[in-house]
Amino acid sequence: MPGRPGAEVPAESTLAVVGAGAMGSQIAYQAALHGYDVRLISRSDDRLRAAGAASEALLRRRVEKGTLDGDACEAALGRVTMGSEFDALAGAGTIIESVAEDRDIKREVYARICGHADDTAIIGTNSSTLASSLLESAVTHPERFLNIHFFNPALLMALVEVVPGPHTAEDTVVRAMEFARAIGKTPVRLAREEFGFIANRILFIAVQEAMRLVQGGYISVEDCDLAVRNALGWPMGPFQLSDLVGLDVVEAILDEGFRQTGDQRWEPVEMLRDLVAQGRLGRKTGGGFFTGMAQ
Ligand code: 3HC
Repeated sequence: MPGRPGAEVPAESTLAVVGAGAMGSQIAYQAALHGYDVRLISRSDDRLRAAGAASEALLRRRVEKGTLDGDACEAALGRVTMGSEFDALAGAGTIIESVAEDRDIKREVYARICGHADDTAIIGTNSSTLASSLLESAVTHPERFLNIHFFNPALLMALVEVVPGPHTAEDTVVRAMEFARAIGKTPVRLAREEFGFIANRILFIAVQEAMRLVQGGYISVEDCDLAVRNALGWPMGPFQLSDLVGLDVVEAILDEGFRQTGDQRWEPVEMLRDLVAQGRLGRKTGGGFFTGMAQ
């Protein structure tokens, strides 16, 4: 992690994000836009380069469109430092973990995070399917650990779900809510953990229902999206949205929902399984329910 000459930024306005996928990197740049000093950490240099380039392109497009001041853009870009060393966690008041949705990987990452995090830092997992109580034993200070869940694309979607587990201290919840507001998001606080939290709980059951209708031959993918956009006012239909989120991610959320709730509504339908098996994962592979990028 390169040094930052003269930068003595207080921990309250310092964020570390571990995991530089689309979510982690957009969370990092969102916080940088709101004045946070951000350290983005990934084990992969390629990931970091790609994350930086994608987010930089999004911010520069805002400048071109006149929705972001050029100086503010440059300042935000300059506030994000990237690297693979966890010692960059020192001095961060807030840490967001946004690595793969895999308990073992997350546990390993928490062991490393807890070896370097400040004793006062709060740690939020961006996991959508693993409540923090399922990971809590891997964390040194569970009282400062909870779910802080963002939505895709994180630079745009306003909602952040703040979900305390039974181990989470009230002060941690308050700090997580303050952090979300400080980076320009609208937080909602859940009273307790529940699979899918709020938005995904509603969304993915609806997405599954759309897939069942298409699979049953009642309607095409295109017309189902058209119907949902025009009747329900969704900005994207369920299939276009699934392509944006990633079909592997959708499948994993549904699998985990079925595993955790036993409710058959979560069990992924065949057409989704088939597309994932073919490697058609949505936008990131250039096609999912829709072919190509023209979505
Ligand atoms: N990442 C970042 N920015 C993006 C983007 C992306 N993938 N796609 C579009 N944008 C930006 C554009 O750059 C543009 O920004 P600008 O105005 O600053 O230049 C802005 O979005 C508008 O773009 P468009 O006019 O091309 O597109 P839309 O008007 O359709 O808006 C959208 C795009 C905001 C993504 C909108 O379609 C939308 O709200 N879709 C629904 C998204 C949604 O439901 N997300 C939740 C998914 S579930 C989830 O995340 C849970 C997790 O656990 C899996």
